[in-house]
Amino acid sequence: MSDDSAYSKDRPFLAHITQSRMLNKPGSAKETRHFEVSLAGSGLSYKAGDSLGVFAENRKVEVDEILAALEASGDEPVSPVMLKLPAPISLREALSSRLALKSPTRKVIETLAERATSPDEKSRLANLLVPEAKDVLGSFLFEREFVDLLAEFPSARLTPQELVDHMRKLMPRLYSIASSPRAHPQDVHLTIAVVRYVTNHRERVGACSTYLADRVAVGQPTVPVFVSHSHFGPPDDGAKDVIMVGPGTGIAPFRAFVQDRIASGATGRNWLFFGDQHRATDFLYEEDWSAWLAAGRLTRLDTAFSRDQLLKVYVQDRMRDNAAELWSWLKGGAYFYVCGDAKRMAKDVDTALFDIIAQQGGLDAAGAADFIKQLKKDRRYQRDVY
Ligand SMILES: Cc1cc2nc3c(=O)[nH]c(=O)nc-3n(C[C@H](O)[C@H](O)[C@H](O)COP(=O)(O)OP(=O)(O)OC[C@H]3O[C@@H](n4cnc5c(N)ncnc54)[C@H](O)[C@@H]3O)c2cc1C
Ligand SMILES: NC(=O)c1ccc[n+]([C@@H]2O[C@H](COP(=O)([O-])OP(=O)(O)OC[C@H]3O[C@@H](n4cnc5c(N)ncnc54)[C@H](OP(=O)(O)O)[C@@H]3O)[C@@H](O)[C@H]2O)c1
Repeated sequence: MSDDSAYSKDRPFLAHITQSRMLNKPGSAKETRHFEVSLAGSGLSYKAGDSLGVFAENRKVEVDEILAALEASGDEPVSPVMLKLPAPISLREALSSRLALKSPTRKVIETLAERATSPDEKSRLANLLVPEAKDVLGSFLFEREFVDLLAEFPSARLTPQELVDHMRKLMPRLYSIASSPRAHPQDVHLTIAVVRYVTNHRERVGACSTYLADRVAVGQPTVPVFVSHSHFGPPDDGAKDVIMVGPGTGIAPFRAFVQDRIASGATGRNWLFFGDQHRATDFLYEEDWSAWLAAGRLTRLDTAFSRDQLLKVYVQDRMRDNAAELWSWLKGGAYFYVCGDAKRMAKDVDTALFDIIAQQGGLDAAGAADFIKQLKKDRRYQRDVY
């Protein structure tokens, strides 16, 4: 626990990155990176299953583009309403590290419509605000960031204070820690999918994943971090078996779990389900899993490389392929863990688990639901999904 540390979310520690490397091999469509962050000297500690919180800085090029559109130097004092500050800060600081440059809302379109002096801009904005255009406005905003709006409606001429009052706070991002303190007491490892995409013909970036990947100098103590403690974690009783389902970056905490259980001498079995696009390029930490399998530390490894064949194969398909064995582990008291994508994967894995319990246990729907409820109550079914 970090109780002895002077550092927390409200007073983040300025950490340095000691290692940043690509996990995907050349030819991959993915950009997943491994980071090692030093917590030396912070007094911070963590356990397997915890996450690291990171406060990012936005891209300078985007901040400069907004300043140019506002015809501002960046030195202008502002007091963004969302930040509730005791004293103003500079516009540049607000845009660089305190406010989100994404996700404009209807409110900014209303303000621009009031302030635009060009008849063409005024009418385009008014058209977006009529009740029948609700869906059009939704897609329009989804495709745009604040910088687009300043460029597309220059006659509205917002002041720096008006602009920042429409922006939301830049929140810290959490990352599941991919190392165990028993193996790495001073460092945390992270497994991060770097977010890059195109909307409205512009290249966009994820604020925090590209801050770590592109904008932080390795070795410089500049990254504000805190440890976010979690109830997610391996069983206290090392004799218990664990089943871990972690496709993509969902693999991160399970690398921590296995390291932890090896270091603590846990005797329970470890079964991992991993999936990603291609075996040749996207088998994250393959060398660790292979070594642990060979040493008998990882009991089973089932992989689902979704794009290596015509039909998609996912981790839940591998669970179904091994339904009898999975049921026998569960009946024997195994803990079941899921980490990764919340929108689709975690739901589909939950459905597969339900089906396996019903079929293999000979239970009706109510019986299977009760079994899962009890698993959750006993903390034997835990999820860390995002
Ligand atoms: C408990 C927890 C643990 C987590 N662990 C990990 C982890 O181990 N590894 C990891 O990589 N992440 C993890 N995450 C997610 C992480 O916190 C961030 O949400 C993620 O890195 C994106 O942040 P960002 O600042 O880079 O992107 P943001 O600036 O937040 O941008 C992401 C946003 O961009 C938009 N967007 C993205 N792609 C597109 C697209 N194609 N088209 C249109 N819009 C798009 C969406 O609005 C999306 O919400 C975790 C989250 C939680 C809550
Ligand atoms: N917006 C979305 O819809 C969405 C979905 C997934 C992830 N993400 C985000 O994208 C980032 C990177 O993701 P990641 O690298 O962690 O991996 P990921 O994109 O979640 O992909 C990992 C593996 O899971 C597969 N997958 C896709 N849908 C699945 C499902 N319903 N059930 C089981 N497996 C499924 C993928 O297959 P295929 O890609 O071949 O289908 C891939 O093989 C994360 O931040 C994540 O939250 C967003």
